[in-house]
Amino acid sequence: MAMTGVLRPGHTQLRVLDLEESVNFYKNVMGLVETGRDKSGRVYFKCHDERDHNSLVLREADRAGMDHYAFKVLNRETLQRLDSDLRAYGIHTERIPAGEMLETGERIQFEAPTGHIFELYADKTEVGDGLGYLNPDVIIEDRKGISPLRLDHWQIHGGDLDGSRDLFVNVLGFSVVERIVAKDGKTDLAVWLSCSIKAHDIAFVRDERDNTLHHAAYLLESWDHVLRTADLMSKKRVSIDIGPLRHGITRGTTIYAFDPSGNRFETFCGGYNFYPDMKPYVWTEEEMGAAVFYHTRTLNERFLTVVT
Ligand code: FE2
Repeated sequence: MAMTGVLRPGHTQLRVLDLEESVNFYKNVMGLVETGRDKSGRVYFKCHDERDHNSLVLREADRAGMDHYAFKVLNRETLQRLDSDLRAYGIHTERIPAGEMLETGERIQFEAPTGHIFELYADKTEVGDGLGYLNPDVIIEDRKGISPLRLDHWQIHGGDLDGSRDLFVNVLGFSVVERIVAKDGKTDLAVWLSCSIKAHDIAFVRDERDNTLHHAAYLLESWDHVLRTADLMSKKRVSIDIGPLRHGITRGTTIYAFDPSGNRFETFCGGYNFYPDMKPYVWTEEEMGAAVFYHTRTLNERFLTVVT
């Protein structure tokens, strides 16, 4: 087994302003599968190609944004080791008992230097993708809305980018895949990090607004799926930020849009495979426009300024 440690983004708990409006959006427009509701009123979803019980938890609140970001790790031994490693590095951790979230085991919670709350967990009930494990079919019928394959990555903003980058690289085992470097030639303005063979699992952007979310990204199957998603967004009057377009960074194709609470999300496809022996790609500040929006080579104001 080559992949150990942190496996992938596992779930997030997203704050929404109107729960039922948001449930309708994530179920019928985004096309996620509702998998449960808990005593505190939170609503749980998964993408159709995900096998674990949930990857999105909606919580009604008076302001939008993300409560926490959780990564799944290989097993309970890995969870214990990473908890010890975090504490040895000087990070305070707390244990959240199994069952606090539906169908989810014990979670280790900690605050990163950028102010974001992260979690690690090893156990979540496997509900399957509906295709079965013996001689599985290849399509799921009656998919609704955009219907992404899975949660893919997050882009989040905060001041101490260096601190969060070093924590993720030196303690959690992530690799730097791409960087945007300031005119001084050394300061990272943004970094894209991978814990897998994906082009990124998380991106940090230097921004004085700590603990903010730029977007949560969902994986689509193809460029055709990106185009169909844009068609659906228009039909359903989804507020599109920008796209469809291609990134220079990761080479992915994408659309950015907003959910009814103003949380930005990305519907993303593509990206190259990354292996830990590969050197990071470096973009200069002058070419930041092409790094993000490869065709127009310029950034729009809303993309730069709106976070939740
Ligand atoms: Fe993204």
